[in-house]
Amino acid sequence: MDKKTVLVTGGAGYIGSHTIIELLNTNKYEVISADAFFNSSPRAYTQIEEITGKKIKQYEINLCDKKKAERIFLENRIDSLIHFAAFKAVGESVEQPLKYYHNNMESLINMISLCNQYGVANFIFSSSCSVYGNVEKLPVDENTPIPQAESPYAHTKQIGETLLQHVCKQHPAFNAVALRYFNPVGAHHSAKIGEWALNKPNNLVPLITGTAIGKYNLTVFGNDYPTRDGTCIRDYIHVSDIAQAHVLAVHYLLDKKNTSNFEPFNLGTGAGVSVLEAIAAFEKVSGKKLNYKIGARRPGDVIAVYSNSSKAFNLLGWSCKHDINSMMKTAWDWELYSKNRTD
Ligand code: WQD
Repeated sequence: MDKKTVLVTGGAGYIGSHTIIELLNTNKYEVISADAFFNSSPRAYTQIEEITGKKIKQYEINLCDKKKAERIFLENRIDSLIHFAAFKAVGESVEQPLKYYHNNMESLINMISLCNQYGVANFIFSSSCSVYGNVEKLPVDENTPIPQAESPYAHTKQIGETLLQHVCKQHPAFNAVALRYFNPVGAHHSAKIGEWALNKPNNLVPLITGTAIGKYNLTVFGNDYPTRDGTCIRDYIHVSDIAQAHVLAVHYLLDKKNTSNFEPFNLGTGAGVSVLEAIAAFEKVSGKKLNYKIGARRPGDVIAVYSNSSKAFNLLGWSCKHDINSMMKTAWDWELYSKNRTD
C-alpha cells in the first residue's frame, strides 16, 4: 500500500528533525521537509540520514513566500502537515515583536491556506505551554483559561490556535491538532543530533551545556521569584518524547480518531523543575560543577508552569520515556559530540 506523505515545515530544526527521525522509524511515511534555515542548518538532513539510513526530499523555502511554498503542494500529494517553522525565543520576541508576528503568522497562514487549496486534511500545529502565561492553578490542562500573552512569541501561538479553530469551523473536512509543548530539551540518544542554534542560544539547557564546555557564561535570570528556591519552574520534556507525540498525532488524524476537528493537547511530563534543580541534575549526570551567576529577571518569563498531559496520554496513547536526568545526559552527550562543529 502506498505510504502516506507528511510535510514537515521547519524539518531541519530541533524538534522538526527529531520528529522526522521518529516518522521514518515507523516505516509508514514518506517525509518531505521545508526549511529556510533561519535558525537551523541543512546538516540536520545529513544527521537524519546517518541515524535512519534514509534520505528525505527537502525544499529550502521561506514559507512567508506563498508562491514559492505552493511549489511543494504542486509537486507532491501531501496527506498530513506538521508545522514547526516559527521563531521561538520568548526573550527575543519581547525585543523584536514585529519579526515574530510577521514570520510566525505569515508562514502559518500560508500553510493553512495551501492545505485548504490542495485538500490536505490533517494539520498538526506546533503550539506551546507559553499560551497559558502566568496561571493561578497548576498543573495546567487544556481547559485552563488562556490569559493575555506574556510575550509576542506566546501571543503568536495563541493567535495561531484561534486562527485554526475558526478555519476548522469553516471547513469541517479540515482537521487540526495543536500540540502545546512545555520545555523541549535533550537530544537523540545517538548524540548525533540535538538542539543547535545559528547564534548563541536563548534557552536554558544549551546554555548550561555550553557553559560547562566553556563556550558561554550562564546567568540565572532571577532567584527572587515566589518559588521553592526562588528560581522559575518549568516542565522540561525530552525532545524525543515530543517527537513521538507528533507521530501519534499523525496517526490520530489519519485514522480519524479525533472527536472534533480542532483539539489542543498538552505535552509535558507534569513534573515542575526549577532552574537551580535543572542545574543540579546536569551536575549529577555530567560530574561537572557548573559556574553560573545570578542576574536580573528576564522580561516575559512566567514564574511557574507545568502540565497535566493526561489528555495526550489517554487519547494519543502517548507516554514520557525520559526523566530530567536523561534529558541532561543526552544534552551533554550532544554538546560533547558537536563541540567541533563549524557549519
Ligand atoms: C527556562 C528558564 C529562564 C536562560 C521555552 C521556549 C519556548 C517554549 C517554552 C516551546 C526560565 C531561565 C534561561 C538563561 C536562565 N517552548 N533561564 N538563564 O522561556 O520557558 O520558553 O519553552 O514552544 O519556545 O523558549 O525557556 O529555556 O528560555 O527558560 O535563567 O540564560 O530558564 O528565566 O526561567 P522558556 P528558557
